[in-house]
Amino acid sequence: MNQAYREATTVVHGNQEKNADGALTTPIYQTSTFVFDSAEQGGRRFAGQEPGYIYTRLGNPTTNQLERNIALLEGGEECVAFSSGMGAVSGTLLTLLGAGDHIVADSSLYSCTFELITETLTRFGVTHSIADLNDREALLSALRPDTKLVYCETIANPSMKVPDIAAIAAEAHRVAPGCLVVVDNTFASPLLVRPLELGADVVLHSATKYLNGHGDVIAGFAVARRELAERIRKVGLKDITGAVLGPQEAYLILRGLKTLKVRMDAICAGTLKIVDFLAQAPQVDKVYYPGLPGHPDHAIAERELKQFGGMVAFEMHSFEAAKKVLNSVKLCVLAVSLGDCETLIEHPASMTHSLCTKEELAAAGISDRLIRFSVGLEDPEDIIADLKQAFEAAER
Ligand SMILES: Cc1ncc(COP(=O)(O)O)c(C=O)c1O
Repeated sequence: MNQAYREATTVVHGNQEKNADGALTTPIYQTSTFVFDSAEQGGRRFAGQEPGYIYTRLGNPTTNQLERNIALLEGGEECVAFSSGMGAVSGTLLTLLGAGDHIVADSSLYSCTFELITETLTRFGVTHSIADLNDREALLSALRPDTKLVYCETIANPSMKVPDIAAIAAEAHRVAPGCLVVVDNTFASPLLVRPLELGADVVLHSATKYLNGHGDVIAGFAVARRELAERIRKVGLKDITGAVLGPQEAYLILRGLKTLKVRMDAICAGTLKIVDFLAQAPQVDKVYYPGLPGHPDHAIAERELKQFGGMVAFEMHSFEAAKKVLNSVKLCVLAVSLGDCETLIEHPASMTHSLCTKEELAAAGISDRLIRFSVGLEDPEDIIADLKQAFEAAER
């Protein structure tokens, strides 16, 4: 597709190839394997001498159509689809790192990614330094000339920290030539920021969230220049994890993607109204949202993000009040995950970040009074009314 189209057009049409039999939507190729015309053809396909499908773990037309659309959206040469966001994270890190390698990661990361870097990869001989990557001194003292990989998230969970990707990538590439900058863009989506354009080498997604957007699929992506993506596909996807996305799930994401622009625009606009209410609510101590001028990364967010997103965290006065709010909401749904049509509300300290130690929670700024909120597509006034009644219930 012509790359010059605007985003609303790109998400609808993607990088669409002509479908068999003139089908408007991409057919679901629900097959594990593909039939060869002859033994010679099978041999040629395995030898890479003839294009064509072999086996769905190595490629499938439905999944490949989705990969082309995501690569186009992120402005990357190639996308590799995984059966979960963690599949994409682990498949990528296990492809790019080996025993003796050093990784620098931001202190605010999704907890399973943090565990993977600080616990699991250590077992395979990969060492790490954790730092606030927006703190230039901390970044420079963490980076080593032989650092292989730097890792952060575009909007970090749940502090809503916004790393300065351009500055981090520039320092990483300067101090450690050959070092790869890997950015998880789940919270922002490619419609708010395209990290590859800011100097990142690999972009990761949990497509479970905004990209699919309907709470019915678990999936992930890695997007990079062709040579890097091919390595991730051949090593991290094909051999190490085998975490291949099924064609049914790929179809659902292809469908969800068509409304990504209208969903993100509505979610971001609704979130501004809800944040405005939260910032003035006497029951709320503190609101974490990069769109607020008081947020430590507001200036970076203004420069880096097209809109400020649909994720908000806020602190109540006490753990008891936070618990009562969580148990009193009627419209907001008490559930983890994010980026769905429904507004989701959760308690990071006891849910998404429950694996973290007390020290790690403190370092990431997660108190037991903190509530995380993923704004959905409901009318924001209804969400505000629901929060209002929950705040009043918490006071009783
Ligand atoms: C920022 C981020 N990255 C990765 C993941 C993992 O994605 P998945 O649950 O699809 O494996 C999540 C899940 O919540 C996430 O929030």
